[in-house]
Amino acid sequence: YPIFAQQGYENPREATGRIVCANCHLASKPVDIEVPQAVLPDTVFEAVLRIPYDMQLKQVLANGKKGGLNVGAVLILPEGFELAPPDRISPELKRKVYGNLSFQSYRPDKKNILVIGPVPGKKYSEIVFPILSPDPATKKDAYFLKYPIYVGGNRGRGQIYPDGSKSNNTVYNATSTGIVKKILRKEKGGYEISIVDASDGRQVIDTIPPGPELLVSEGESIKLDQPLTSNPNVGGFGQGECKKIVLQESITRSKPFCSSSHPLFWHKFFWFSKRNSLKRFSCTKMN
Ligand code: HEM
Repeated sequence: YPIFAQQGYENPREATGRIVCANCHLASKPVDIEVPQAVLPDTVFEAVLRIPYDMQLKQVLANGKKGGLNVGAVLILPEGFELAPPDRISPELKRKVYGNLSFQSYRPDKKNILVIGPVPGKKYSEIVFPILSPDPATKKDAYFLKYPIYVGGNRGRGQIYPDGSKSNNTVYNATSTGIVKKILRKEKGGYEISIVDASDGRQVIDTIPPGPELLVSEGESIKLDQPLTSNPNVGGFGQGECKKIVLQESITRSKPFCSSSHPLFWHKFFWFSKRNSLKRFSCTKMN
């Protein structure tokens, strides 16, 4: 869950560029982010994140039963960018955002990093973030430069909990070499597998929670680390980036008043607005 990242990591993006969700969501699946190439200062725009997956898929839930997948994401914007306040979002954009999605900042002091989820994947495999660009006139740390945007998107349950323990949505491996002496099927699902080491008679019991399917049977000889179960995970995490979103200096700002009635101003103005709204670009990168 994004909250696990918020609690465990000061910054969701490590120095290597890896987004921390990947530490617990071990499978890699693609995501796709689309933002305008250029935005004007103090302007609302959309960042569209797609987390594609086969909607027919079911995954193993915590209780061992099968169910649908949820999605979640983290969006790392440049300093100064933040979630657009509701009164700045047009009704049209509100409809796209579905209104009831509740984005949060990663930390109270990190308004440029947004998280969302878990939310049902069937409805939100495409997530529209309404973003407000900074106004360099009032925000000292915003400049007219090219900025990178990073995003991480996930579908499905993770494999590792914050305390380091495994979830039931992952593969379980033998903790010893030996012979499978006994497989005990537990009442509430899951197994206890006794493995006896042929050389010294030492016995270990590997406990498997309800969820993963057993691959070994009694009497079988197995090696240390050999998978005892299948990997039930059907989800995955992916990250992507847009190398350059340009905070465009607006003509109205650089040349207030004097040129606004000049035909050239309007020509440029429309050219810019058209460019901004039409020239979108999309970035895809697999983790
Ligand atoms: C579950 C997203 C970070 C471990 C989930 C789910 C989502 C999600 C959407 C629900 C999936 C479903 O129900 O189908 C994210 C995102 C992260 C992140 C976007 C980064 C911002 C982490 C981290 C850890 C973690 C850092 C481990 C420390 C888990 C586990 C589950 C889970 C174990 C399954 C919980 C359960 O059902 O018992 N995550 N996650 N996640 N996440 Fe994450």
